Amino acid sequence: MGDLYRFGISLDRELIDSFDRHIAAQHYQSRSEAIRDLIREELLRKTTAEGGTVAGAIVMTYDHHKRELVNTLIDIQHDFHEIIISTQHVHLDHGNCLEVIAVKGSAPEIEKLSTALKVLVGVKHLNLCVSTSD
Ligand code: NI
Repeated sequence: MGDLYRFGISLDRELIDSFDRHIAAQHYQSRSEAIRDLIREELLRKTTAEGGTVAGAIVMTYDHHKRELVNTLIDIQHDFHEIIISTQHVHLDHGNCLEVIAVKGSAPEIEKLSTALKVLVGVKHLNLCVSTSD
């Protein structure tokens, strides 16, 4: 973190009361930390919208018995090797696999990879979680 900078904010009493209840329920230690997180979230949203570099994880479950699906998943991951940092495969049970794909790269490329995997028959659920890369 760089130097601390302090500033005041004027808000409606109703708005700050509502915010305080919200952050208390989430167990924030202070308003400052809650506001820092809001700012980080907004800056990440801006980075994503502008096609900047982000890091993230694609978490997906799929049908282990769809043999052609496994090959397609591997082919797609090779196509996107430049943004894939690692892939972890977990055999959930006899018929289901969980895959966690760590990614870092341009937000549109990551979205493209995520969508390419999501639409495949046999993929039961996919969630893309994006975070800052720096
Ligand atoms: Ni498996």
